[in-house]
Amino acid sequence: MRALIVVETCFGNTEQVAHAIAAGLRSRGADVEVAAAVDADDVLGRDLLVVGSPTHSMGLPGAATRRQARAQGGHPHDTGVSEWLDTLPRLDGQRVVAFATVTGGFFSGSAAKAIERRLRKLSAAVAAREDFRVTGVEGPLVDGELERATRWGASLA
Ligand SMILES: Cc1cc2nc3c(=O)[nH]c(=O)nc-3n(C[C@H](O)[C@H](O)[C@H](O)COP(=O)(O)O)c2cc1C
Repeated sequence: MRALIVVETCFGNTEQVAHAIAAGLRSRGADVEVAAAVDADDVLGRDLLVVGSPTHSMGLPGAATRRQARAQGGHPHDTGVSEWLDTLPRLDGQRVVAFATVTGGFFSGSAAKAIERRLRKLSAAVAAREDFRVTGVEGPLVDGELERATRWGASLA
């Protein structure tokens, strides 16, 4: 059974992390899909679901923060992880993990925390949560973070 990695991105950094995690999950196999294009049905039969998002305003992106990202040169889809989570049925016992990209620092918050909260409400079994650091709104990722993401993926395999 392949893992499914569902990701949202505005500047590409979170998607890069998703592919690095997929490389770590190589032995199991993983599909990386953009949240705006994933059917809720795609979750069925997966032995691991990985959900990742950039952190916006200390939580998950929404319409207003995506507009701000677009104004700063980003390329968000109209919908993302938050809207996709709304489409999911109960996930009773489904093994899931959450990750986010963050700029870091005391007031950074983490979209991964919001994802974890939403997945727990659906009765999923949240096995891990991780943040990966970017150097600024547009990135790039802090040196070493992609390698760390691959190691994290391998630890989940
Ligand atoms: C509107 C907006 C709000 C943001 N708010 C936060 C925040 O509260 N905390 C944080 O760590 N990063 C924040 N960021 C920076 C994002 O973490 C960064 O843009 C993201 O990790 C880049 O990932 P992406 O390339 O996948 O879009 C914000 C970025 C935007 C565009």
